[in-house]
Amino acid sequence: MLTLIGVPAATPKESAMGGMLMDAPIKEFALAGSLEELKAKGRLLVHGSHRPILVIYDRGRVVALDNRCPHMGFPLERGSVEDGILTCHWHHARFDLESGCTFDLWADDVPICPVELRNGDVWVKTTVGHADPAAHWHQRLADGLAHDIGLVIAKAVHGQLAADVPPAAIVRQVALFGAQNRDGWGVGLTILTALANLLPALWEEEAYLALFHGARRVAADRDGQAPRRERVPLGSRRESAALKRWLQHWTKVRHREAAERTLLTAIAAGLSPGVLADALLAAETERAFADAGHSLDFINKAFECLDLIGWEYAPTLLPTVVGQMVAARGAEESTPWRHPVDLVALCDKATRELPELFATSNGAHDWSDHAALARELLGDDPARIVDALKAAIRAGAAPADLGRSLAYAAAFRVARFGNANEHADWETTHHVFTYANAVHQMLTRVGTAKLDSYVMGVRGVLHGAMALYLARYLNVPPARIPGEGGEQLDDLPADAAMIRAALLDAFDRQRQVDLAARLVARHLALGHSPHAVIATLAFALLREDAGFHAYQMLEAGVRQFTVWGNTDAGRHILIAVARYLAAHSPTERAALQTADIAQRLMRGGELHHEAAAS
Ligand code: FES
Repeated sequence: MLTLIGVPAATPKESAMGGMLMDAPIKEFALAGSLEELKAKGRLLVHGSHRPILVIYDRGRVVALDNRCPHMGFPLERGSVEDGILTCHWHHARFDLESGCTFDLWADDVPICPVELRNGDVWVKTTVGHADPAAHWHQRLADGLAHDIGLVIAKAVHGQLAADVPPAAIVRQVALFGAQNRDGWGVGLTILTALANLLPALWEEEAYLALFHGARRVAADRDGQAPRRERVPLGSRRESAALKRWLQHWTKVRHREAAERTLLTAIAAGLSPGVLADALLAAETERAFADAGHSLDFINKAFECLDLIGWEYAPTLLPTVVGQMVAARGAEESTPWRHPVDLVALCDKATRELPELFATSNGAHDWSDHAALARELLGDDPARIVDALKAAIRAGAAPADLGRSLAYAAAFRVARFGNANEHADWETTHHVFTYANAVHQMLTRVGTAKLDSYVMGVRGVLHGAMALYLARYLNVPPARIPGEGGEQLDDLPADAAMIRAALLDAFDRQRQVDLAARLVARHLALGHSPHAVIATLAFALLREDAGFHAYQMLEAGVRQFTVWGNTDAGRHILIAVARYLAAHSPTERAALQTADIAQRLMRGGELHHEAAAS
């Protein structure tokens, strides 16, 4: 008896037509050859405008499948069949011949095609697809994440986008996977959120690459980690002030369970994102510049992730930041923050003055001296830096205004990072900048509606200002800001596309920090589109095997540029981003190769032919 694989076993059509779908549209099927020929040869290959299809006869069964191995696209026709198992000739991935399912998860499943027998001839359906592509690729992404298989993740992201699944839905799937399968927020979720934030700034075709990077880093982040254990809210419904107070207390005494249950109770009480942000900011700043700023940055990213995927997921996502928050090491434990000047005491004293300072300003928040305050924050006397912040508050600066000035000042440190420093020192400036950006975003979210009870979060600005002060030696001697002080940039191209091509070329080589900065300055000075240069910087990042900090740097820079616009400050911020990225490029670009293989497989390309032709 002959079995045709790929035809549903009990459809009415089969019953009526003796196992054949005679009324299927003939144009979707191609003639593979006669059954006798197939039996004699064992396998036949069907070519055409469609993807190549391999038809195999094996012990009374006829199977048709995509001839391109799902691993790397090499032809399966060279494979061997034994005991119903097809083994690829190239890297020996093995597949169940009947279903196409792989025994080797790194290779992915091979699509099979329906087969029909018509008057002794074998016909195969030439289109390979899934009844519900969105559902299929959703499941494949779940599989790829669970097993941390880059190729499967890449194909699933590509497949979902091709099936018109909104990027936000893909971000949601990956974010929830990360939150539920790792005991705490991590690097992967931060990268995912940063890249999701950047999607509107990317060239359209880069969304695939951005989501792939985010998803693969979430999957990798879970490796070796304990899964998350859920906690539940308290049974009572206390007022927000008590919950905020408790959260600060449990953070201070490092009681994770208590802090998580308090936060869950605040979420269950329906407190707004702004009130929750205030409570977490107050708890987080119980320690100064904790974990070199990462702890606060993670909290901010969790809020931004919820903006992207929906606040109904707050009970799942937000408590994941608590573990690091309560365990984080504060700068008050480090010598540079205590000697020769006790910077922590300076911040504590100013913190006690904050309620009165904001009361004095009398709610007049029409202050706009952000750039001038940033210059003062870059000074070399910590007491005067704190005085400048206090003066700004008296003059009407809101907490978010202080955060904005701090973020620009920190970006300026990066823009003027001296090339004579050790390479690792880039991270010191980076930490201050991304921390400052997070403080700015959190204070913006908190707002000014109840300023008298929200001032504790301003400690974040004071701590950031001291971290900025301590990093001042990294601007000695300072790098030159290109195009300023009379420097001409006329040796560089003037055409926008040529400048951007030269920028990408600079990222192809090591130590092109100053050239990258000059090209960005040139592009902006000539009035070319800032959005195009941002998209170019993003592409330069996405093609690399970038480190965690590079994603943070780009995203924080783009967010701050959005605030400052194409002003001197905005240009300095993008110059800072370009210099940092250039200092960390190029890399091996292995992830890009995986993404490229997946993309070509999904588009139906024959990789081995393309490789041979190139
Ligand atoms: S196992 Fe088939 S191409 Fe690698």
